[in-house]
Amino acid sequence: MTASPPDLALPACDFTVFGGTGDLALRKLLPGLYQRERQRQLHQDTRIIGVSRHDLDDAGYRHLVTEALFDHVPEDHLEAGAVHRLTSRLHHVSLDAHSPEDWDLLHGLLKEQRGETRESGEDATRIFYLAVASDLFGPICDRLDELGLVTADSRVVLEKPIGSDLASSRVVNDAVGQVFEEGQIFRIDHYLGKESVQNLLVTRFANIFLEPIWNSRWVDHVQITVSETLGVAGRGEYYDRAGAMRDMIQNHLLQMLCLVAMEPPTYVGGDPVRDEKLKVLRALTPLTGVDVDRNTVRGQYTTYGEEVGHPSTTETYVALRAEVQNWRWAGVPFYLRTGKRMARQESTIEIVFKEPPHAMFPHSEGITTPNRLTVRMQPDEGMQLHLTAKHPGPGGIRLHPASLDLSYADAFDERSPDPYERLLMDVMRGIPTLFMRRDEVEAAWTWVEPILERWRDTGMEPVRYHPGTHGPAAATRLLARDRRTWQENA
Ligand code: BG6
Repeated sequence: MTASPPDLALPACDFTVFGGTGDLALRKLLPGLYQRERQRQLHQDTRIIGVSRHDLDDAGYRHLVTEALFDHVPEDHLEAGAVHRLTSRLHHVSLDAHSPEDWDLLHGLLKEQRGETRESGEDATRIFYLAVASDLFGPICDRLDELGLVTADSRVVLEKPIGSDLASSRVVNDAVGQVFEEGQIFRIDHYLGKESVQNLLVTRFANIFLEPIWNSRWVDHVQITVSETLGVAGRGEYYDRAGAMRDMIQNHLLQMLCLVAMEPPTYVGGDPVRDEKLKVLRALTPLTGVDVDRNTVRGQYTTYGEEVGHPSTTETYVALRAEVQNWRWAGVPFYLRTGKRMARQESTIEIVFKEPPHAMFPHSEGITTPNRLTVRMQPDEGMQLHLTAKHPGPGGIRLHPASLDLSYADAFDERSPDPYERLLMDVMRGIPTLFMRRDEVEAAWTWVEPILERWRDTGMEPVRYHPGTHGPAAATRLLARDRRTWQENA
């Protein structure tokens, strides 16, 4: 058991959420801020301003958010005092982007002099969280700029996906970049806020034993899986335009691949980490033409059309085989897959090592499996190192798989914070390490785009899979071709 470190103080912030009544704000952002309120970490002058088109006053917004907290915060974390403190910080601005008067309301609120920070003449740090479609990012930033609301200390947070391809992501990044410096732009990928994903960095670089074997000489292959049991209910309109490639692979899965494959940065800080991730993205072997047909699987669960209300060819499942062409990883396949309405809710990274060079136990019974390091992001965050051990008992040596198991819940007497909770604090403190830089986002699109184009140009229909299964059989064949299996089949 360990004691928690003291929480670092946060500056006074005006935290403005565009899309303040949306699913993300109510399900993740406000519950995340609530948890920090509970720890008494938010500065006394911090205000939270929800912006939406809904006709709500402050009282109405406070009511809406209170209900959301009751729905999304674990019951044993709900404390009347903390709920009251958080909701007292809330304001709502009903804003139609085309109405100058509505923008004046937001302007008035942000310029209001209030509390100690402002009495001393200092502006609170302004954070603009854009939880809206990315084609609105540019127009919102322009308006904020025209109203003089963007100071050197202001930050903007962009939700993924940024654009729907390389060209549109450049347009969005250019538009935001006209108003905010790159150092003020926080592109969020909530997978980077997961404890186990951050722990991957710590495990790799704060320990010595893995580094010598973390390369093509010892690693046979890597599997990255994000499988979800839920469908797209409630988000069908967005999802049907995006699909699994844009929604998950372009960001979350490629980011995890980067953390597995990157070289040690000089220190864990904003640019060194992002420089190393960028090198990995740029070293991905491009998949184009027939290589796409051979190395990718596109699937859709059979009830998807019913869920979105019309026939669709959007993929809800992707499996693919990627390679990182550099000294460390040449020849090591990275298999990525993600799907909705799958048999299990599970996110894992599997580093599968090679077999020992020589079988020393020729007459022994039992099973040997290759060593494998599993990083479990959900459920039950932790790590497992799979080994071969001697089965206890006399009468010869029988080999048996066994594992060293690090469960966060057991090892640390701590609640694992929701990723948004951690990332929102980093935005307030201005720490960019766990956010994506523009060049990373664009490098990811550069790799993904030819795959999307090939699917489009060849009219590749998604293969159907039944809800509650492990996805299409073609994904099993993708590995079988290389004489490998996905871990649940191993
Ligand atoms: C989001 C995707 O970014 O990540 C969703 O838009 C997906 O489609 C979600 O369900 C998965 O996140 P988590 O943390 O629940 O695995």
